[in-house]
Amino acid sequence: MDRDIRTVDDVMKLLDGLFAPEADRWTEGAADWWDGFYGDRSKPVPFFVAKPDENLVSYLDSGLITPGRALDLGCGPGRNALYLASLGFQVDAVDLSPVAISWAEERARETGAGSAVRFHRGDAFALDPVEFGGPYDLVYDSGCFHHLPPHRRVSYLQLLDRVLAPGGRFALTCFASGAMGSELPDADFYGQSRLHGGLAYTPESLRWIFSDLEEVELRRMRDEPAESPCFGKAFLWSALFRKSS
Ligand SMILES: C[S@@+](CC[C@H](N)C(=O)[O-])C[C@H]1O[C@@H](n2cnc3c(N)ncnc32)[C@H](O)[C@@H]1O
Repeated sequence: MDRDIRTVDDVMKLLDGLFAPEADRWTEGAADWWDGFYGDRSKPVPFFVAKPDENLVSYLDSGLITPGRALDLGCGPGRNALYLASLGFQVDAVDLSPVAISWAEERARETGAGSAVRFHRGDAFALDPVEFGGPYDLVYDSGCFHHLPPHRRVSYLQLLDRVLAPGGRFALTCFASGAMGSELPDADFYGQSRLHGGLAYTPESLRWIFSDLEEVELRRMRDEPAESPCFGKAFLWSALFRKSS
């Protein structure tokens, strides 16, 4: 007889398991899928470019965030982590995919920014609380949050609560409703065992989910032309929040 539920973590794992294995993009079991995704660097994937997000650049340029300690969640091949390191941030960057982390480390060696970034292969929800306890002045997420099933927002908020410094900033880019991502209600993802490529969010849903934080800016990411030094796609929201001091 299975009587496996005692903690919130047990509930999270049970709910993770309601999804079809091939739909998983967020647990340790998804590392192989992401490895395959990153395996061919010649694929025309917009975020394979070695450029930082335009919103992140604008936050730095306008002084909305200033250098300190940063955590990049779902860092992929490290484009934003390396940009932050080049500006003087001390960065921890985590991703499930060994292939993505190797690519990020390769980029770090090429740019010489390596010593300011600690790339870690692992699950953002299973980080060692001592090694990755922060406190971080900035938690950044470009494109990871929308791959999480609804119940993992609880884990995500717990992580933010634990690691973000008082007065720290949290910024994310995620699928914008009406432009990209699935518009299904939360409960339907469980009924269908799939996330359909990722979840769309409205500005109101983001404000509600992150309502423990103060909104600094929430806007559509700007489309950036191919020759731009920045990455930008208008099917994403870019949001910046601040934790109270
Ligand atoms: C759309 S990619 C974005 C990559 C990178 N942030 C960028 O913009 O170039 C999403 C990334 O989130 C990572 N990811 C998903 N769930 C994760 C988890 N639980 N812990 C760590 N990384 C995760 C995936 O491995 C993938 O590399």
